[in-house]
Amino acid sequence: MRISIIDDGTLGIEEQAFRSGQVDAEITVYHNPDGVKQSAGSDLVVASVSDAEKALKSGESGQGRLIAYGRPDDLERALMLGAVDFLPQPVDTADLLYALKKSIILSSSGRDAAPNFQSSGSEQVAESSAVTVYSPSGGIGKTMLAVNLAVALAKQFGQKVVLVDLNLQFPGVDLMLNLSPARTVIDLLSQIDHLDSEFLESFLMRHSSGIRVLPSSQRPEDSERVSDKDVRSIIGALKKNGYLTVIDSSSNLNDNMLAAFDCSNNILLMTSLELLALRNTRTCLEIMASLGYDKSKIELVLNRATSKDLGVQVEDAENLLGERFMARIPSSGECVVKAANHGQPFVITQPESEISKSVAGIARILLSGEDKQPVNERKRAPLFGKAWRLFGA
Ligand SMILES: Nc1ncnc2c1ncn2[C@@H]1O[C@H](COP(=O)(O)OP(=O)(O)OP(=O)(O)O)[C@@H](O)[C@H]1O
Ligand SMILES: [Mg+2]
Repeated sequence: MRISIIDDGTLGIEEQAFRSGQVDAEITVYHNPDGVKQSAGSDLVVASVSDAEKALKSGESGQGRLIAYGRPDDLERALMLGAVDFLPQPVDTADLLYALKKSIILSSSGRDAAPNFQSSGSEQVAESSAVTVYSPSGGIGKTMLAVNLAVALAKQFGQKVVLVDLNLQFPGVDLMLNLSPARTVIDLLSQIDHLDSEFLESFLMRHSSGIRVLPSSQRPEDSERVSDKDVRSIIGALKKNGYLTVIDSSSNLNDNMLAAFDCSNNILLMTSLELLALRNTRTCLEIMASLGYDKSKIELVLNRATSKDLGVQVEDAENLLGERFMARIPSSGECVVKAANHGQPFVITQPESEISKSVAGIARILLSGEDKQPVNERKRAPLFGKAWRLFGA
């Protein structure tokens, strides 16, 4: 194992201790600001939160796992970077040695691998995972989340990601990423029974963020040509190629959508604090339950969450749906619309914004396999009068 320690001048460790063979690895200590760049190819990098962030922004971060150090209140920034461990300063030599040994043991026993998704780090060839972003309501923010989640998973968490546009009638991924697709999912159909790895790789579009994209056709009538079997073959082949597959969807609950659900390890079901959206979401949850979908793979995401009183509170919505929200994405009109109009994901252009942090939080939860809190059974009845009437509960 190769380990690089990048000392930004504040680390203050006894370097000799790392050369004494106490850790079973090849360790290099860098003292210059380009250390992160030079550490490319390392399995494990120890760097300050600031250096790691700079490297990430300039696209110079390697694929190795990160142990970050910084001020105690840098912990959240470290987690946002996908660090496997965080050392608050002042860093003790013994603490760093211990963190390195722990990381080596976990990695050799495979226990640092995420349960649902690939572990953060190098591009792998083992079959990977898929997540579908779905909502039975149109215009709820599916494409906004799918695009930014895919980019965050790749850029901030080092995953090998493909974003599939399964909104076959009215796609949006291409515009949000400023891509002009030469070939689309429709062109893939001629080879659907021979989707070998090389063909797929040559077919996918590359985005500057590092993700691959499988765009949808711009002609709504083409949607008829794609069957649920095709959807299964395509997602299956992408997963087999080691891609963490993020699927943007339409609001139609049809066979193609069910095929995408079947192939997905997680379904992010988006809703908002509007009664119509909540009613659709509840109906959708009921249908999914009746079709036998495992509840644990459905995660509720609240979009346009706001502290303003809209007549429906977050808690009311959770009680109505019988589940806690896995994430609340804030309303952020200027940031979202500007990013979409420029074809640049906001997780790249405004990584420090609240909305980017909430998308990164979703990525982190998916990768760590953390589960949402179930709502106390006692609280499941709809509590607010308007909804009570509307839902006939
Ligand atoms: N959190 C948010 N804050 C502000 N604006 C948002 C937010 N989420 C989405 N929007 C805006 O809402 C509109 C719809 O978003 P988006 O296109 O992602 O929805 P969708 O569910 O994919 O729609 P469709 O069903 O048509 O595919 C867009 O104009 C987007 O910029
Ligand atoms: Mg959309």
